[in-house]
Amino acid sequence: MNRILVLYDSKTGNTAQMARLVAEGAASIADTEVRVRSVDEATPEDVHWCEGLAVGSPTNMGVLSWKMKRFWDDVMGEHWMKLDGKIACAFSSAGGWGGGMELACQSILTVLLNFGFLVFGVTDYATKLHTAHYGAVTARAPRTGDAQAACRLLGRRLAEWTAVFVHGRQAEHPANKMAERGLPGQE
Ligand SMILES: Cc1cc2nc3c(=O)[nH]c(=O)nc-3n(C[C@H](O)[C@H](O)[C@H](O)COP(=O)(O)O)c2cc1C
Repeated sequence: MNRILVLYDSKTGNTAQMARLVAEGAASIADTEVRVRSVDEATPEDVHWCEGLAVGSPTNMGVLSWKMKRFWDDVMGEHWMKLDGKIACAFSSAGGWGGGMELACQSILTVLLNFGFLVFGVTDYATKLHTAHYGAVTARAPRTGDAQAACRLLGRRLAEWTAVFVHGRQAEHPANKMAERGLPGQE
């Protein structure tokens, strides 16, 4: 069974909405159990439990929120060097396009790299004009179909990579499915 954790911070609910969509995408892959946890309720056990992790934060001054940073500094600090090899990715909501959501994703990925997570971006397009190359991003709530598709794609990809690399389920390899499905960006 694939074990996926979607961990998020959200002050006004936008990143929380993204988290639910990422979880939906992950759950679309067979034999996947998904936990969704806010940064206020998550425990080290949740992080140890998972094989694949999606971390979401509002974009704050172009980086991850202080609460999410504190979680990794203070709560997870003593677990450093005990989490290596899990698969991970990022998502972020900002106030507006150009507000730094991809920078925020990169700052999350930087923290995850430091803990030895194997981080990834999504190469194929969620919709014709929307990608999640550095993680899923949106302005405010994920109201548009584009933003929702990007969140779901990120979660699905996380569960696919976990299925392939942790459980040896080669049939879930996204490259095979991409070839079958075609790329929305190239229609
Ligand atoms: C302290 C703080 C810093 C912020 N910095 C940025 C920023 O750098 N760029 C931006 O576009 N929006 C910024 N915002 C707006 C939030 O990223 C945006 O409202 C986001 O959708 C909030 O997500 P949430 O509902 O999950 O808290 C900031 C908000 C706060 C409270």
